[in-house]
Amino acid sequence: EGQRHRRMKEAHQIAAEYYHHMLLHTEDGEEALQYLEDRGFSQTLIEDYQIGYALPTWDGLTNLLTARGFDLAEVAESGLLIQREQDGSCFDRFRGRIMFPIRDESGKTIAFSGRIIEASTSEAKYMNSPESPIFHKSQVFFNLDKARASIRKQHKAIIMEGFIDVLAAVRAGIPNVIATMGTALTPQHVTKLKRLVEQVIICYDGDGAGWEAAKRAGELLQQSRIKAEVAVLPEKLDPDDYVKQHGATSFKEDIIDKPHTYIAFVKMHARRGKNFQFDNDKMQYVQEVVDLLVHNTSPLERDLYIRQLADETNLSEEAILATLRQKESDEAQRSKRQQQKEQFTPVVVTHQ
Ligand code: CTP
Ligand code: MN
Ligand code: MN
Ligand code: MN
Ligand code: MN
Repeated sequence: EGQRHRRMKEAHQIAAEYYHHMLLHTEDGEEALQYLEDRGFSQTLIEDYQIGYALPTWDGLTNLLTARGFDLAEVAESGLLIQREQDGSCFDRFRGRIMFPIRDESGKTIAFSGRIIEASTSEAKYMNSPESPIFHKSQVFFNLDKARASIRKQHKAIIMEGFIDVLAAVRAGIPNVIATMGTALTPQHVTKLKRLVEQVIICYDGDGAGWEAAKRAGELLQQSRIKAEVAVLPEKLDPDDYVKQHGATSFKEDIIDKPHTYIAFVKMHARRGKNFQFDNDKMQYVQEVVDLLVHNTSPLERDLYIRQLADETNLSEEAILATLRQKESDEAQRSKRQQQKEQFTPVVVTHQ
């Protein structure tokens, strides 16, 4: 098993070098290189992250790995190649894409994400390696190998939606930044973070999907007692767009250094699209925010947000506090019933 993983990682390293070479030193790679330059990628960044280009051919990598004596079926299992069912032969999975190596915590390449150059309606913008013996999406953070030291030092990690955003942040001089690989933050991700930091800043895209994802990620972090804050971007911008439009300094000072508390962010989110002229909207808003206050809030936070809610809605602090107490006692009842159920579950002893 150890040997198998080692060989799979070795194939990935060879692939990364191969794609990187194609990007920098061939005519076929010129369009891709131009694209990266237009998006602000420097030579240094391309080198540091070993960014590459997969030719649009079907067998470039397949031939290389054959020549190096790899077992192609095993390489296919690692995601780099695809094996044909008919005759067991293999072909390159990634073709005509800009290649971003995804590394594990020790800096070994374990997967790739490939981006198409031209916008296309028929092809997905990003193609990622499939789940494999060496690549478990639900656990991997892009850039954790390089970011770990600064995350430790600053006691703080910044998490983004896209690895392109991470690269934009790195360029902007922010080192402690990571991203999940096209998946939402999972409990396994959070377990990993928990060993590293006590505070996380979520900086997701400024769109509906980003807000929803930030809300869920924050909830998950808070449940593990990691302090979550949200750096909010203007609507329609992601971190990469923001840096491009407003510059690195503004990104740092106005966005990353001015995160909202998780509760303030969820309040903003809950308020969007609601009209307080309507009683229902108003009450639903209070309910949503109170739901949040029931869990994981200090007395100070409660006081602060209950006052704010009262101001915003013109409802009394007493009524809001009573709503909160009600929810708390509902929850307490529920967990008590749960405990009783567990206590009375008969223990079955089997004799062998
Ligand atoms: N993603 C994916 N497949 C897609 C689109 C997105 O796997 N077809 C994942 C990628 O991991 C990507 C992340 O979701 O990094 C964020 O998606 P999106 O915001 O659409 O991409 P950007 O990072 O903004 O990429 P770009 O600026 O190149 O459009
Ligand atoms: Mn494994
Ligand atoms: Mn997005
Ligand atoms: Mn984006
Ligand atoms: Mn983008």
